[in-house]
Amino acid sequence: MAPLTVQAKSSGIKIIVNPGRKYWEQMERWYSETERWNMRPDEISVWASTYEKYWMFAGVDQETNEFVCSLSLGMQTTSDGEPLYSIGLFYCVPQKRGLGYGKPLFDAAMAHIGQSNATLYSAKEMSAWYASKHGFNKLLSFWTCWAEVQPLNLVLPEVSKQYDIKTTEEVDWDEIHDYDSTICCVEREDYLEESLTWEATVSRVAVDSNGDVVGFGSLRFVSQNEIYACPLYADNSTIARDLLISMLSTVTDLSSYSAFSLLFPEHNKSVLSIISELSKGRYKHYPIYRNQYLKKVLPVPWDKVYANDDVNHSIV
Ligand SMILES: CC(C)(COP(=O)(O)OP(=O)(O)OC[C@H]1O[C@@H](n2cnc3c(N)ncnc32)[C@H](O)[C@@H]1OP(=O)(O)O)[C@@H](O)C(=O)NCCC(=O)NCCS
Repeated sequence: MAPLTVQAKSSGIKIIVNPGRKYWEQMERWYSETERWNMRPDEISVWASTYEKYWMFAGVDQETNEFVCSLSLGMQTTSDGEPLYSIGLFYCVPQKRGLGYGKPLFDAAMAHIGQSNATLYSAKEMSAWYASKHGFNKLLSFWTCWAEVQPLNLVLPEVSKQYDIKTTEEVDWDEIHDYDSTICCVEREDYLEESLTWEATVSRVAVDSNGDVVGFGSLRFVSQNEIYACPLYADNSTIARDLLISMLSTVTDLSSYSAFSLLFPEHNKSVLSIISELSKGRYKHYPIYRNQYLKKVLPVPWDKVYANDDVNHSIV
């Protein structure tokens, strides 16, 4: 990894680049408890070990070593050979917000990005700040929405039986990557293999009668005893529905989980039909994030996206 330093302007804080597990555990606890950014065990390692370049900046109290603020910066290459930076986990513990701790981390990331393209998913209230102060003013025309069901309310119907739903071990990875390249124009083979097979993950691949991959997805079992569908890509809504039902059917004691959720593009109107069917209408949903770019928006076939991958670094 290339060296990257950040000068802490806020007194009493030191910035550690790529802190070890000791800090990640504290950080993951803060993210989960205050923002409900729930993760799989050691999830930060998935980016750290598979991204072309990856830095996690953590601001910690010089005296107590307690975590204060963070920003995660990744770099991957698009299919055009251009670098694409992504910013995630921009965070400050609640009692220290608004005191200037977060800004030096963001400034350092921007200095490193330079003239390259970059993307982030912004929380509603931060969207204008990213656009006006930092140039993330190429916005997708729709919101990324959050949908949530109490697992007690999930009633799983039969699958359509029009497709074979397989595990990732039963399908050639090259075929999964080929399908993924129709969804995501960022080179991410290593990331995808690591993420779809990471601890606390159930992944499935849909194959049609010609033997072609026509969709895939994962369930992640994350902190706070929650389940996220993340991602879910499919050529049509029947495939997405089959994948989701098949993955949820593998979960023993589904009702013991505290929530089942997914992030999806508002653009894809079929998502809520599926969620509504599975929950008998007992779900809630609302817009939560806006995808913003620095130079240009990258193309994604949003009608095939039924659940986003993580919104920290993935474009879709
Ligand atoms: C966003 C966050 C990381 C900012 O950290 P911070 O230490 O409070 O920020 P700073 O005091 O350094 O302020 C940085 C800038 O962000 C702006 N800002 C901070 N919180 C804001 C909010 N809720 N709404 C709008 N602007 C905000 C400040 O006005 C400041 O602007 P300036 O450049 O004009 O000075 C922090 O508020 C946080 O953790 N929020 C909850 C998690 C979150 O939503 N993260 C962003 C995900 S996209």
